[in-house]
Amino acid sequence: MDINYFILISLAAMACIGESASVPALYVFGDSLVDNGNNNYWSTVLKANYPHNGVDFPGGTPTGRWSNGYNTIDFLAAMLGFKSAPPPFLSPVKDTSQGANFASGGSGILDTTGPTTIPLSTQIKFFQSFAQNLTQQMGSQQASLHLSTSLFLISPGSNDMAAYYAGAAGPPNEITKQRYINTLIQTLENHLRNLYQLGARKFWIQGLYCIGCAPVARIISPLRGCLEDGNDLAKRFNTAVTQLLDRLNSTLVGMKYSHANVFNMMSAVLANPNAFGMKEVRSACCGGGINNAMLPCTPIAILCPNRNEYLFWDFVHLTQATYNLVALQSFNGSQNVATPINLMQLAQN
Ligand SMILES: *[C@@H]1O[C@H](CO)[C@@H](O)[C@H](O)[C@H]1NC(C)=O
Ligand SMILES: *[C@@H]1O[C@H](CO)[C@@H](O)[C@H](O)[C@H]1NC(C)=O
Ligand SMILES: *[C@@H]1O[C@H](CO)[C@@H](O)[C@H](O)[C@H]1NC(C)=O
Repeated sequence: MDINYFILISLAAMACIGESASVPALYVFGDSLVDNGNNNYWSTVLKANYPHNGVDFPGGTPTGRWSNGYNTIDFLAAMLGFKSAPPPFLSPVKDTSQGANFASGGSGILDTTGPTTIPLSTQIKFFQSFAQNLTQQMGSQQASLHLSTSLFLISPGSNDMAAYYAGAAGPPNEITKQRYINTLIQTLENHLRNLYQLGARKFWIQGLYCIGCAPVARIISPLRGCLEDGNDLAKRFNTAVTQLLDRLNSTLVGMKYSHANVFNMMSAVLANPNAFGMKEVRSACCGGGINNAMLPCTPIAILCPNRNEYLFWDFVHLTQATYNLVALQSFNGSQNVATPINLMQLAQN
């Protein structure tokens, strides 16, 4: 039996016999690292609802998650005591009493990123009508209590960085890089302030991983090493996001946050794969061509058998084993991976 699957089942079992969830609900926003199927119900070609995605999900079902099985949100939900992760907001049959997932694969902080997907601004508009309903149903006092104690889990920025590379005329230089990051941060600030206005108080923000080390980025890098420029952009963006969160924490009353330093988590695995039970940290498990990263993960792609030993699922996404690692460290890690507090502390706070 898949070890991560086993962990998830044990955690879910603990949740059933133990206390109920430690927070009332989870609301999820952002990109494909946290989307669990919204794009299935949206007019876009960016979908993951076909094999080999989901090959290790119960029943081998492709769900719309960019993973061989679960993603980080599934693991975090289990650790927080939920029986399952919140459903995709756009799915027709759903129970949203413990939250909803508004994320959309391919989407960005900027509306211009991933134009066929659901940008963060629209995700927040969807949440706005959701919150209005909640207020009608619960009354405004109960609704604001519910929202202020719930967790808002957000994964921003990865596709904006990809769009930057795709749109860059020539190698990025110092000035354009910094200008782009400033634009992203200003726009992200608006998004977070809007969520705060709608009642959100507890924010978990996922930092960018070392995107220069993605299988697809290594293709264009000398000797197939990590693409320094990509990692540099990710680092700068992450630093700017933590500065923004600090600033919001000191200006917006009651705003609390935990920043997941996925960059550091994955750098540690890259430096010492064996310590994390990994064997292949460069090539994708599912794909084709150089690094198995030149083709997307489709039914005709090459699929690795030992998926727990792979860091990357496809050209940019992570395996369920890696998503679990990210969740574990973010939930209960120390300050170098969960800044300045971890998700468990944020939930209890
Ligand atoms: C709000 O409630 C109405 C009526 O129950 C429902 O039709 C609609 O889908 C809900 N909207 C959201 C965003 O949850
Ligand atoms: C943010 O500010 C509050 C004070 O309202 C504080 O209690 C909290 O621990 C701060 N830090 C974080 C990381 O949320
Ligand atoms: C969190 O991590 C600490 C130190 O590694 C450990 O002692 C503790 O049991 C962990 N708690 C949970 C709930 O996992």
